[in-house]
Amino acid sequence: TILVLDFGSQYTHLITRRLRELSIYSEMLPCTQKLADLDWKPKGIILSGGPYSVYAADAPHVDPEVFNLDVPILGICYGMQEIAWHFGKNVSAGEKREYGHAALKIQRHSGKEAHVDRLFAGLQDDEEVWMSHGDKLSNLPENYTIIATSDNAPFAGIAHEQKELYGIQFHPEVTHTKSGNVLIKNFAVDICKANQNWTMGAFVDQEIARIRALVGDKAQVIGAVSGGVDSTVAARLMHEAIGDRFHAVMVDNGVLRQDEAKQVKETLTQGLGVNLTVVDASERFLGLLKGVSDPEKKRKIIGNTFIDIFQEEAKKIAAAAENTALAGKVEWFLQGTLYPDVIESISFKGPSATIKTHHNVGGLPEKMDLKLIEPLRELFKDEVRKLGESLGIPHDLVWRHPFPGPGIAIRIIGEVTAEKVRVVQQADKIFIEEIRNAGLYKDISQAFAALMEGKAVGVVGDQRLHGYIIALRAVQTTDFMTADAYEFEQKFLRRVKNRIGNEVQGVARVLYEITSKPPATIEFE
Ligand code: XMP
Repeated sequence: TILVLDFGSQYTHLITRRLRELSIYSEMLPCTQKLADLDWKPKGIILSGGPYSVYAADAPHVDPEVFNLDVPILGICYGMQEIAWHFGKNVSAGEKREYGHAALKIQRHSGKEAHVDRLFAGLQDDEEVWMSHGDKLSNLPENYTIIATSDNAPFAGIAHEQKELYGIQFHPEVTHTKSGNVLIKNFAVDICKANQNWTMGAFVDQEIARIRALVGDKAQVIGAVSGGVDSTVAARLMHEAIGDRFHAVMVDNGVLRQDEAKQVKETLTQGLGVNLTVVDASERFLGLLKGVSDPEKKRKIIGNTFIDIFQEEAKKIAAAAENTALAGKVEWFLQGTLYPDVIESISFKGPSATIKTHHNVGGLPEKMDLKLIEPLRELFKDEVRKLGESLGIPHDLVWRHPFPGPGIAIRIIGEVTAEKVRVVQQADKIFIEEIRNAGLYKDISQAFAALMEGKAVGVVGDQRLHGYIIALRAVQTTDFMTADAYEFEQKFLRRVKNRIGNEVQGVARVLYEITSKPPATIEFE
C-alpha cells in the first residue's frame, strides 16, 4: 500500500488514480493522520500539494513520525515544501506565483551518487511539466541534492543523498506533465516496491467490506436509482454488501426516456437482484409542470417534487422495516457521487466536512436525518464503467450516455405537456436506435431529440400539416464543459429524418443542431 497524505490540493485524487492505473493499492488520508493509529505500514508515502504556506502559523503539517518510518517519501509541491520545512525550515514566498507549463531540466548524477536519479529513470533530460505554486524552497536542506531545475525554480526536484526521500515542485499526477506517470511508477514500483496486484475485483471486495462495517448487520439503506450507470453500480454494490436491507427507489417523473422505468425495473430486479420500488408519479409531475415554461422553474419543480416523493416512499419503507424482526432502522442514504462531483477534496479537517450540500439531492440526507454513504466517491467515470462491467451490469447500460435529472422537460422548449413528451420520446428513441445501428453510439458522448417551441408547416401525403419541430443534438466531449456537435453524414441524418417523419405523428420538421459549447450548452434549456 502507498499512503497518500492529503494537504487539500485539487489534484490529490489524481495521485491515487495514477496509482490505481498501475494496479497499486493506495489509501488517501488527511495529512494530519497519526501514524500510530494505522494498523498497517505503508511501503511508501506521497505528500500531496496543498493551498497553504508551510511557514504560516496555522499551516497543516504531517505527523513527524512520517520521517522516522524509514520508507520512501515523495513530496509533491506543498509536500516537497513540507519536507524542506521539516529539515530546516527552508521555504519562503516566491516573488511570483508560477502556474502552468514549465520546462524541467533534469540534472544527472554519476558514480555512487547516481541512485538519487532513480525517480527520473527513463525520462528525457528536458521534460514538460505542470507547475502550480506560490512558495518556493529558499535553500537546499542539508544532505539533499538537486535533481532537477526549471527557469523559475532552481529546486524543482530534490533528493536526499542517502535516504529515499524526494521532493518535486511540479505535479506529476496531472496529464499536462507528459512523463508524470513514468515518474509515479518509478517511485511506487521501483523505489517503494509496491505490489501491482490491485484490481477492480479487489476494489469491490474492499468496498463491500467497508460498507458492511459501516452499516452494521441491522441498519437499512435507501437510495435513488435513475437508470444511469452511477446509480446502478452503486445500487448493485450495496445489494452485494447487504442484500435486501438496501432499498432502491426509482421515481418515474413522466419526463424519462420511453419505457425507461420498465427497463430499469427489469435490469435491476431481474438482472441484478436489487430490491427496487418504482413509483409512477408521472401525472403528479406533469400536473405541476402545467403552464410552466421557465427552465429554472421546471428544474425546481422537478427537483422538489422528487424529494417529496422520495421522502414519502422512504417513510413507507421505514414503516415496513419496523415490522420485521430482523432488520433495523433506515439510517443511511446511498448516493452514487463520483470523484469529479466532489469538488472539494478531502480536506485536512477530516473527511466528514467535505461534501458540499448541492451534491446531495436537494440536501435529502440532512432533511431526512440520514447518514450519507458514497461507495463511488473516489472513482472517475471510466473507473465506474470498469467496475460496472466487473459487477455484471449489462454493457449497454454501462456505456449509456448521461441523462439529466429534469429529463425531457428541459428538452421541450416552453411548456411541457404529455403530448409533447410523447413526441420527444418517440423521436429520441429512433435517433438513438439509428445511432446504435450505425455503430456510432460510443463515438458520441451524448445524443438526444428535443422539441422546439411553436409549429411549422409541412405536407404529409396530400395534407397540409401544421406540426412539431424536432431538433436533434449529438455532441462529442470529454468533460461536458466544452463540446462539439457531431458531424454525421447527410445520408444518416436523412434516414433519421425519414423515420421520425413517418413514425412520429405530428412532426413537420426535423433540424440538426450544430452549435458547439460554448456558446451553446448541451441541453436546450
Ligand atoms: P449543459 O446543458 O449545461 O449540460 O451543457 C452539461 C451536462 O449536464 C447535463 N445537465 C443536467 N444534469 N440536471 C442534471 O442532472 C440538470 O439540471 C442538468 N442540466 C444539464 C446535460 O445533460 C449534460 O450532460
